[in-house]
Amino acid sequence: MSITVTENQFHLRTNSTSYVIHIFRDKYPVHLYWGSRLEDDGDLSYILDTMVADRAAGIHNNYDDIKKLFLSDVPMEFSCMSEGLYRTPTYHAKYADGSTVSDFVYNGYYIEKGKKSLSGLPAVYVEDDSEAETLYITLLDKKSGVKAILSYTVMPEYDVITRSIRYENCGADDVTLLCAKSCTVDFYAPDYELLHMHGDWLREATVEKTKLDHVKVSVESNRGLSSAQQHPFCVLMEKGANEEMGNVYGFSLVYSGSFQIEAEPTSTGLVRMNAGISSFDFGWELSPGESFQAPEVVLVHSDSGLGKMSRTYHNLYRKRLCRGKYRDQERPMLINHWDATGTVYTAERLAEIAKAGAEIGIEMFVMDDGWFGDTGDEIRQLGDWFPDKRKFPNGISSMVESINADGMRFGIWFEPEVVSVDSHLYKEHPDWVMTAPGHDATPMYGQVILDFANPDVREYIIKSISDILDSANVSYVKWDYNRPIIETANQEHKHRAILGLYEVLETLNSKYPDVLFEGCSSGGGRFDPGMLYYMPQTWSSDNQRANVRIGIQYGTSLAYPAITMGAHAGQIPLGLASYNNPLETSAHVAMCGNFGYEMDLAKLSEAEMEQVKDQIKLYKSIRKTVQFGDMYRFGNPFEENRTGVCYCDDDEMVLFTFQSRPQMNGEEWRIKLSCAEIGAKYECDGVVYTGESLKKLGIRISLEHYDYQTRCMVFKKVK
Ligand code: GLA
Repeated sequence: MSITVTENQFHLRTNSTSYVIHIFRDKYPVHLYWGSRLEDDGDLSYILDTMVADRAAGIHNNYDDIKKLFLSDVPMEFSCMSEGLYRTPTYHAKYADGSTVSDFVYNGYYIEKGKKSLSGLPAVYVEDDSEAETLYITLLDKKSGVKAILSYTVMPEYDVITRSIRYENCGADDVTLLCAKSCTVDFYAPDYELLHMHGDWLREATVEKTKLDHVKVSVESNRGLSSAQQHPFCVLMEKGANEEMGNVYGFSLVYSGSFQIEAEPTSTGLVRMNAGISSFDFGWELSPGESFQAPEVVLVHSDSGLGKMSRTYHNLYRKRLCRGKYRDQERPMLINHWDATGTVYTAERLAEIAKAGAEIGIEMFVMDDGWFGDTGDEIRQLGDWFPDKRKFPNGISSMVESINADGMRFGIWFEPEVVSVDSHLYKEHPDWVMTAPGHDATPMYGQVILDFANPDVREYIIKSISDILDSANVSYVKWDYNRPIIETANQEHKHRAILGLYEVLETLNSKYPDVLFEGCSSGGGRFDPGMLYYMPQTWSSDNQRANVRIGIQYGTSLAYPAITMGAHAGQIPLGLASYNNPLETSAHVAMCGNFGYEMDLAKLSEAEMEQVKDQIKLYKSIRKTVQFGDMYRFGNPFEENRTGVCYCDDDEMVLFTFQSRPQMNGEEWRIKLSCAEIGAKYECDGVVYTGESLKKLGIRISLEHYDYQTRCMVFKKVK
């Protein structure tokens, strides 16, 4: 049993963690503990006395007098605006009488086996009820009749707890939700840091650590998508915690729209973590009888640093977030022509690149932007999803057939949420565009946004994508999204559009179970767990420069497994080994993900072609381990010159090492392969090592004295 209930206390246990909630004064669910697993079921609420008993009355009131209690000093599991709750709330609403004060009190609990799906939203799932137990704690605001149902799913084997909240209006009047977060967790967290990711196009997932002193830090996006600028994932790290040591607490939001993860320190040493949909400009009307489901947050604690935390997320997201037939399949290695041609190409030119790929063992050809509409290469007509007759007079099926005949699968690019103002679609349906009342939509690159909150738009998009998928043997779709939302009525509208997007993706998933979908948004601008629920891989970045991409993939790997990370090798400029992007380094970096190429294979020299051929052979031989094995990182490329990544499964360990600048006659570099198995023996390049020596003594890495050197070592277990 993973949930134990004793008087006023709920103890949630995964295989290595405990999470303990107490019902304070029979009224308020408060947070007592989250950390390494506790075996004892004893009452932990004594900690509340020592925490606030000696506070002075001017600002803090002694909680013996419940009415004077400043609940702000108590570590809450749910918070609103009442009873001296002045910290950032979980919930905030405006009632019919103009008041924004609520008083949610405990109204009971129930426990269910398994895990329910969240209506209309992506979420982690179970395949069998025995995999999870879910605790529901109900809180009621008597005056308005609004209920908040806090759900906690415990997945012991996966070592995670997922949280979300459903808000139900059981009262008689309309309520406007101004803030409806998914969870609040209060920590006793002196000297903690917040690790978060920021970035932009070509530099996604840049890792930054912010010391939590005495100001609130809010990692958020109000753009209507999760965004490369801020990522819906944060880690609270205790002082001194690193890749292998220390307590770290991950918060990963399974949502693709505007979000907030807030870390708010207080003068008493607490840090409140709030996560969910952004409350900036939020105003969701909840009529009597209606409910609002907040998205899910996946909570992971590790007592052994970031490495263990990442492996926990990887295992869960690979097996119980991603879905469909590709979840457990090695992913095809693909060639995309975008960097080689842009939108200016002919069917013959594509055939040439595809043919070159087929000859060296690439498994899929992806036709990117530029294949649709009828106005030419320069003015694209997003929205008119029919093949451009000048490029494909008889549709795309004959090209697909000949690619298939060469032994390769075929994939195609769409940007379904965007429409060009030059398109037939826009001319016929200018009212299908997302905009704010009284404001015109602002075109960017001649494009505006389709309003996925509109069912007619959803129907059109499903039909036009289906027409293409039905017209030829298409095995893969790259689902892109390349411009920001500028005008919308409000955040509520953006949330409705995201719900519409999820509905479209769900329909296409069930209609085309054999098609592999890959998400993309100007590179990795919408790499989030919400999208991974519908598309089991996401393009990590348009940046193929090894020395930058290594950081992007490091950041992305904090939460997401290699199999989900579209990662391609490229040469910029093509055909020239640019000084910071030797082809081998570019390929090794990309092999740390879901590998492929972005280049004009038809223009490579013979020697380069041989190199690419060897890389393809190498990746095929290690793909299973990279895509399904456990990942161990050595060093942080944002801080260190020499870094490594190792993937391991029962049969082998695959170690990639990278060095940006040469260490001429520098210090020796050793890596201790913490994943090596004691008692096992491994063979690499003709030498046999014991697992114990690889783990404890380590392996010496020696690289040439040049910039951007790399090496791949495969340690095969000796049977
Ligand atoms: C985005 C993607 C690229 C490519 C272009 C096409 O930028 O990230 O990979 O598909 O769009 O317009």
